[in-house]
Amino acid sequence: MAKALYSGSFDPVTLGHLDIIKRAANVFDEVVVAVLNNKAKNPLFSVEERVNMLEETTKDLPNVKITSFRGLLVDFAREENINVIVRGLRAITDFEYELQMAQTNHELLPDVDTMFLTTNILYSYVSSTIVKEVASYHGDVSHFVPECIEEKIKEKYVSVQ
Ligand code: PNS
Repeated sequence: MAKALYSGSFDPVTLGHLDIIKRAANVFDEVVVAVLNNKAKNPLFSVEERVNMLEETTKDLPNVKITSFRGLLVDFAREENINVIVRGLRAITDFEYELQMAQTNHELLPDVDTMFLTTNILYSYVSSTIVKEVASYHGDVSHFVPECIEEKIKEKYVSVQ
């Protein structure tokens, strides 16, 4: 069974992430979406909230499993018996960091390879950071995130002026 690991911060999940998840789910038998549990990144949403939002967003995709992990991604991949890491590439600006991560992960665990999916052009400018920036000023994020997530983002900024 071909399994893939799609990891990230998902703070929050965007339409770009969802597009990568759906396309990976068409290629692999199972896609494990893993949220990095790292308080140092000072996320807007807790790990539980991010996992819940991903579950809600992917509930129609039976071969997608949502979970979280701590520590090194390759250690988690080994535990889950997964040899393929999937990442989305939006633009050339992503490339350097992604290449560095892919090569580091391969060095740490040679059985692991990273496969890149080019982000749908519709979402090539979308990032969780931009979503939070727009939402913090009470802007409309409906073009950037799944519908069920919109309200949850608004709630985070409800008392912020
Ligand atoms: O959505 P992000 O923040 O770009 O995802 C980055 C992520 C979570 C994939 C990356 O930071 C990661 O794998 N962190 C776990 C620690 C690790 O394994 N670091 C070594 C890879 S360079």
